[in-house]
Amino acid sequence: MSRAKASREARPPAFWYREARKGWLRRKAGSVLCCDDVPVAQLAERFGTPLYVYSASTIVDRLRAFDNAFRTIAHSVCYSVKANSALGILRLISGLRCGFDVVSGGELERVLQVDKRAARKVVFSGVGKTKEEMRQALKAKILLFNVESESELWALAEVAATLKRVAPIALRVNPDVAAETHPYISTGLRKHKFGIPISEARSLYAWASGSRHLKVAGISVHIGSQITEVKPFRATMERVAELVQVLRQDGHQIEFVDAGGGLGICYEDSSAPEFSHHVVAYAEAVVRPLRGLKVHLLLEPGRSIVGPAGALLTSVLYKKKNDGRRFLVVDAAMNDLLRPSLYNAYHEIIPTTADSHATTGRENVDVVGPVCETGDFLARDRELPIVNEGDLLAILDAGAYGMSQSSNYNTRPRPAEVLVDGKSVKLIRRRESVTDLLRPESF
Ligand code: LLP
Repeated sequence: MSRAKASREARPPAFWYREARKGWLRRKAGSVLCCDDVPVAQLAERFGTPLYVYSASTIVDRLRAFDNAFRTIAHSVCYSVKANSALGILRLISGLRCGFDVVSGGELERVLQVDKRAARKVVFSGVGKTKEEMRQALKAKILLFNVESESELWALAEVAATLKRVAPIALRVNPDVAAETHPYISTGLRKHKFGIPISEARSLYAWASGSRHLKVAGISVHIGSQITEVKPFRATMERVAELVQVLRQDGHQIEFVDAGGGLGICYEDSSAPEFSHHVVAYAEAVVRPLRGLKVHLLLEPGRSIVGPAGALLTSVLYKKKNDGRRFLVVDAAMNDLLRPSLYNAYHEIIPTTADSHATTGRENVDVVGPVCETGDFLARDRELPIVNEGDLLAILDAGAYGMSQSSNYNTRPRPAEVLVDGKSVKLIRRRESVTDLLRPESF
């Protein structure tokens, strides 16, 4: 069976086709793609395209399922802001009493903007924190610094000393566990830049505990992203659990284990298990090795919460044929959604209307944007229903690492973002204008 046929035509509950009727006899007129209860074509008409559309109820449901899967252990879900950092989405998530995982002063500022008190549930990860960022996070009184090198420990101790503060720390250990995912987003092997080798952890913890301005509080780990198998998570936590015991014997107070993020979603496989089941299997893999250790578990999911809750709407500008290859030139491009170009990632693309008689047929096309690079594609050699110029398409599973990885390449203003909740529609980011883009520049 071809890839296109194996995949689902829409992704309920966020995106689904609703039967539309026309005329006073309310005859069936095919179906229209909706986000929650709102036809996406209405959103495109109102806000233009390309347009990011998110389903609030889907984010809430997924977050609840995630949280619920870990109910057997003391835990906090710290949503990974990098996946989608829109203030409107952070506000929604902070309303569910979640914490946050940030990797820059900018992300921390976003979190503080939506909720000043959220700092006490913030963990700060990343291999290159600047002293300025450390200062900002210390002043905000965040929960935990996930430190990734010896030099960073020194820098943090120094900054904390000048502020007369004590920085709560976990060392991010590199467990040397392989996880099957794209090599750009795999992080848990010795050869990667992340964390410190687990074999060196003991001596660094000893050093850290000697500083009056550092407080050893936990261990952190993150082995990569878009990992759909749960085995590597279990293997990682087994190593971490061993380390918890060793460090406690050394006299350290290990209160937190931060398991990072990384749980993958199904971009194309219709036979994949329901999220609520998948997350339970994941939770079991993470929690079992920690049983009896009385730690507080921190979790940093990003993609699994917001990925399937978002779609990028785009209009077909032109159809063209070059040497037998068919192209749909659409108004979204690699600057709006980088994942296909950067990781050769698959995103399902569906039309926003489906003819109930399905008479249109299908054809193989490349869906490409207007950016001047051959690498600017959203799908290649994809079998799609035949569409016309002016038609609207939805690129699914674009809620994570879509807008947050967008750029202004080719001086293209970034799309607007809309958050739908049932019947209600909120513009959470207006479309950029070229004037916005030129403002910081001078000549
Ligand atoms: N925690 C840490 C320390 C991380 O580095 C990441 C992701 C997460 C949590 C969240 O992982 P998630 O649950 O979303 O898998 N741009 C790539 C993904 C990069 C992930 C980077 N780190 C993509 O579009 O696939």
